[in-house]
Amino acid sequence: MSVLFDRIGVLYTGEREREEIADAALVVDGETVAWVGRSADAPAADQRFDVDGRGVIPGFVDSHAHLMFAGDRTAEFAARMSGQVYSAGGIKTTVAATRQATDPALAANAAVLLAEMAAQGTTTVEIKSGYGLTVEDERRALEIAGRFTTETTFLGAHVVPPGIGSDDYVRLVTGPMLTACAPHARWVDVFCERGAFDGDQSREILTAGIKAGLTARIHANQLTEGPGVRIACELGAASADHCTHLSDRDVSMLADSGVVATLLPGAEFSTRSPYPDARRLIDAGVSVALATDCNPGSSFTSSMPFCVALAVREMGMTPIEAIRAATAGGARALRRSDVGVLKEGARADLVILNAPSYVHLAYRPGVPLVTQVWRAGRRIV
Ligand code: NIG
Ligand code: FE
Repeated sequence: MSVLFDRIGVLYTGEREREEIADAALVVDGETVAWVGRSADAPAADQRFDVDGRGVIPGFVDSHAHLMFAGDRTAEFAARMSGQVYSAGGIKTTVAATRQATDPALAANAAVLLAEMAAQGTTTVEIKSGYGLTVEDERRALEIAGRFTTETTFLGAHVVPPGIGSDDYVRLVTGPMLTACAPHARWVDVFCERGAFDGDQSREILTAGIKAGLTARIHANQLTEGPGVRIACELGAASADHCTHLSDRDVSMLADSGVVATLLPGAEFSTRSPYPDARRLIDAGVSVALATDCNPGSSFTSSMPFCVALAVREMGMTPIEAIRAATAGGARALRRSDVGVLKEGARADLVILNAPSYVHLAYRPGVPLVTQVWRAGRRIV
């Protein structure tokens, strides 16, 4: 069955050519987009839906989220807002709560967050493990994550858990843990940071993951100007995430290698830290994505519209650059060409805004503008 979405105000397509179309229309046939163009040229379809001048965008692609956890860190957040500094060590609080949680409790927590995401226009989500940090706790996190998304990421190397030395832990992560987790994961990730894993350990972990058939992504240069971005570029990772503290060499390596820089402004917001300089990256020719980093420690938001607004206000991005990074950019960070874009043959993931265009996501921050969400041709919100 085909549906014509007619009389769209501004349609943001995510395509390089004709990236936005005014007075637009779009036809969905089954699960995919069948036609995109001007309302005046729209073909007939089985059903017609009058969008009445509202804006339409592709469903957001949230390419970085840590949804497999239990508990929260309210007290840590409150302490930070009274002046305490964020450090990697807080992860251990969540690890203790996550190990205690049953499988149904972990699944239910993820489902609540995914429902929040959907209500805010997200139709593709990456989910990381990383709060279990034993062979079985990491394996089950990924098995549960796989019920919700194909974009599952093994982050056994989130932090060294208590009770084991870091060399022994790296051996565990690259050995039995990887063997147990690889069948449930598409990606391998490591938190390359002071207080987590150094450059040599990060390289070793990602290389082992790649050998096991996974593709690399990395938490890089979040708190300090470390070696993470360089390692991402050397290993051909899909994405280097955070990219808050970068040298000029890091920026030119990102531009030359095509590794996506995924910026996570929710983390800077929630840790009261300086934001990454998106303008510098874009001007140097780096591909940029935006994601929530949804996690209970450093960024407990599920909202891509919030990240878009922060990117525009705080990171030097224009509205079209921010919406591009949150849709097509996220898809690129996940090496997907079927989502984050509204073109013939793409998955029919679309968001109808209660506003004439995507610009309002930044212009009207904090306002719930997402009114309908369709995923693979089916209305989900
Ligand atoms: O992306 N940086 C590493 N991981 C998360 C934070 C995890 C936590 O504090 O629980 C992040 O910000
Ligand atoms: Fe993260």
